[in-house]
Amino acid sequence: MRGLVVTMLFTAARSVRMARAFTAQGAAQRVAVTGSPLFQLPRTGSVRMMAAAAAEDVQAAVAAQGAVVRKLKEEDGLTNADQAVKDAVAELMRLKALAEAEPAPAAAAPAEQDLEAAIAAQGAVVRKLKEEDGLTNGDQAVKDAVAELVRLKALAAPPPAAKAPPAPPAKKKQKKKGSPPPAPAAAADGAPSAAQLKALDALAARVGKSDDALIDSFVGAMSAHLDSLQKVKGGAAPAKAAAPKSGKADAAPKTDKVVETEYQVPSMEEIINVCKRRGIIFQSSEVYGGFAGFFDYGPLGVELRANIKKAWWQSMVHRRDDVVGLDSSIISSPQVWKASGHIDGFSDPMVDCKESNLRYRADQLFWARAEVDGELLGYVSLMETDDMQELAEQAAEKLKRKAKMQGTLSVTEVKDFTEATPEEQKLIPSPATGEAGSLTAPREFNLMFQTNVGAQVDGSSVAYLRPETAQGIFTNFKNVVATGRVKVPFGIAQIGKAFRNEITPRNFIFRSREFEQMEIEYFIPPDEDCWKAFHEQWLTDSENFLLSIGLRPELISRDVHPDHKLAHYARACTDLMFKFPHGTQELQGVAARGNYDLTQHATVSGKSMEYFDEERKEKYVPHVIEPSIGVDRLMLAVLTSAYAEDEVGGEKRSLLRFHPRLAPIKAAVLPLVKNKPEIMDKANAIYKKLQKRYFVTFDTSGQIGRRYRRMDEVGTPFCITVDFDTLEDDTVTLRDRDSTEQRRVTVPELLEYLEDQIDS
Ligand code: GAP
Repeated sequence: MRGLVVTMLFTAARSVRMARAFTAQGAAQRVAVTGSPLFQLPRTGSVRMMAAAAAEDVQAAVAAQGAVVRKLKEEDGLTNADQAVKDAVAELMRLKALAEAEPAPAAAAPAEQDLEAAIAAQGAVVRKLKEEDGLTNGDQAVKDAVAELVRLKALAAPPPAAKAPPAPPAKKKQKKKGSPPPAPAAAADGAPSAAQLKALDALAARVGKSDDALIDSFVGAMSAHLDSLQKVKGGAAPAKAAAPKSGKADAAPKTDKVVETEYQVPSMEEIINVCKRRGIIFQSSEVYGGFAGFFDYGPLGVELRANIKKAWWQSMVHRRDDVVGLDSSIISSPQVWKASGHIDGFSDPMVDCKESNLRYRADQLFWARAEVDGELLGYVSLMETDDMQELAEQAAEKLKRKAKMQGTLSVTEVKDFTEATPEEQKLIPSPATGEAGSLTAPREFNLMFQTNVGAQVDGSSVAYLRPETAQGIFTNFKNVVATGRVKVPFGIAQIGKAFRNEITPRNFIFRSREFEQMEIEYFIPPDEDCWKAFHEQWLTDSENFLLSIGLRPELISRDVHPDHKLAHYARACTDLMFKFPHGTQELQGVAARGNYDLTQHATVSGKSMEYFDEERKEKYVPHVIEPSIGVDRLMLAVLTSAYAEDEVGGEKRSLLRFHPRLAPIKAAVLPLVKNKPEIMDKANAIYKKLQKRYFVTFDTSGQIGRRYRRMDEVGTPFCITVDFDTLEDDTVTLRDRDSTEQRRVTVPELLEYLEDQIDS
């Protein structure tokens, strides 16, 4: 390996010498240098020079500049925010664009064509950053690439004879402890000055003297670029002997330093944006301006959703001995909904604002009475939030200021609109207009979507899209008992779509009109003393499931419904609450529903719903415990928990910390270089193998660090880098998304590890 390093360093040294040769040849054409601290090729005219120079030197220049960037960050401890790093990266990108635009090296094409090629290549860089890497104009890499594009374009425009082409604005160097000395200034004619040449020598010397890691990294970078050079030239890839044994150096860099940022619940806007940008969730009918309460799930969303359902089914059905599955139809006999009480009672109280024509759910519209020294000041209204009392007090303060009143302000406890007397309702201002008198009294609004079944469209053909999956379970109770070899206590689980014509679909996928439920009806004996233990057990099992898929424990809480708020047939109901971006709200309900539903279906259908208990030798209608959770609502909780930002190697990183069980993409296979057939073949073989088990991806575009970041952003927990060492010892680099830790594992170990992390 040492011998190899010497060979490569010889190449590096040669590139330094060539850079000097450029200087001698083209001094008259050069007018500016970049702020790159060590290895600086003259900017103006460099395209022409590159065309004339041996292409190896372009590649060597790229490699050397890469080493400069790494050195600044790794040795000097600078970050991407430091000007010296920005300059060095800008220079690296410029050199790369030139290298990519490089035509056959010997053909010294006219300068204009070279420039055009460079512009085209730089345009491709910009497009790639934005379209493939998902960066925006706000990202530094895009800004730098665009700046370079603009610069190249300016060069292409016919310059006024006496005017020098626009050089990048002089950048102010920040001198700070540990930072490199400012770049030596260019000579007046734009050629590298003596100081710059000295710096180049210093680079060569430093590379020669530095530690193994730097040498490895330098050699790795050079090898990769020389390989791609061969491709550009259409020649064969360098002989294997010339490839660095330490090819892993570039592929398997050390663990980056991760600085964790304290978790904060993201805003709904952040969640919506990340969902749209990463292809997770889109607004339904977006091209037509959207359709309130409906959503479409994109390529990653459909995977995440499927993984949530799979995890739930595994935990609640496959890994238990007392629960079986069911898939009942979405539309069923309207009798089902008559018996269940949905036709008569599945409604929400609705309030209209006559002025704005806006509609509110009365139980989500809150109000309070404000008094000054015990005298009525007025009423304030507000929508449901976590901090309503505080908001009501603030609104009352405003009211007092507006009325120019003196005295002590007091505000009653906030209540919902259904709790207001008819007189009070008239005095409560509409949230839309701020004026009283426009809100109607609450009216019941049935939430079921109606449809007609069959050719006849009249009252006799009316049917409903199911508003919950539960009733399909009750109506199949006897079928499952007769065929499923089940014994009370046992459960029937179902995952399926449900539809509710919500008055105010709100908060993204939290409350939508079409959603999916995961429900269990767990049938238990009717004894008075047993339901509490089953209820508590289901609460615990449900919480454990939520934790097992990575929800943050600090965001989960319980809300026990007070007795006076329970349905007449219910014995208890506890909601598992979650701190969503819009506040702490119900994620899952766990209700002890008695035997109301089975009894109702028995009465309306005339068919017995009794169960014969072999052990007790008695017949009874079982009671139920009902854990019920929405897939979409759980997905919002998963996204809220997973949303994270931290700092890696001094650079801000946004990532989705999905549990491996839920992550849409389980792993990414990344060949270090794409122009090395052996590496590509090996990577492809690993990819195909993993593809049989998991949804994995194969990514060859861009630098390895960039590819890691792309995977972090979509929450891929593992990256597998295939490099030169893989060819020799069948090991790959396995990189962990959260810690960025990298370690070498054999391919069989890799499969075992993934299985353990994803399937356990
Ligand atoms: N079978 C009982 C039942 O349907 P629910 O509280 O009306 O009870 C159960 O709904 C769960 O379904 C809720 O905890 C929530 O997770 C989800 N859910 C209900 N309505 C929803 C909606 N409009 N949008 C999204 N999820 C909803």
